[in-house]
Amino acid sequence: MTAPDPSYYQHHIFFCLNKRENGDSCCADHDAQEAFDYCKSEVKKQGLSGAGKVRVNKAGCLDRCAGGPVAVVYPEAVWYSYVDKADIKEIVESHLANGVVVERLLTPPHLGR
Ligand code: FES
Repeated sequence: MTAPDPSYYQHHIFFCLNKRENGDSCCADHDAQEAFDYCKSEVKKQGLSGAGKVRVNKAGCLDRCAGGPVAVVYPEAVWYSYVDKADIKEIVESHLANGVVVERLLTPPHLGR
């Protein structure tokens, strides 16, 4: 049996889509689902999806709610706090397509829950 390929995807981005029913702040309150859907469609449209390329996945709370809405790109473990679709488009075109981190959208390192 061969070992699993650690780089099956070149980039793997996870979007927190967590929704809190108790009124506390959560990524779902900041259009996280729309951002996720848009990212998926852009990645597909640009021919970036699939093995050896990019995978876009949903996640529950990533415990960095204070920086929300957040998404994280692996294997680099680069955290983004985005605002709108233009931000997502920039992450796709710069980081996911070309490996260039979008510095202006980085989640401040101290922000946790
Ligand atoms: S609700 Fe999104 S990181 Fe916690």
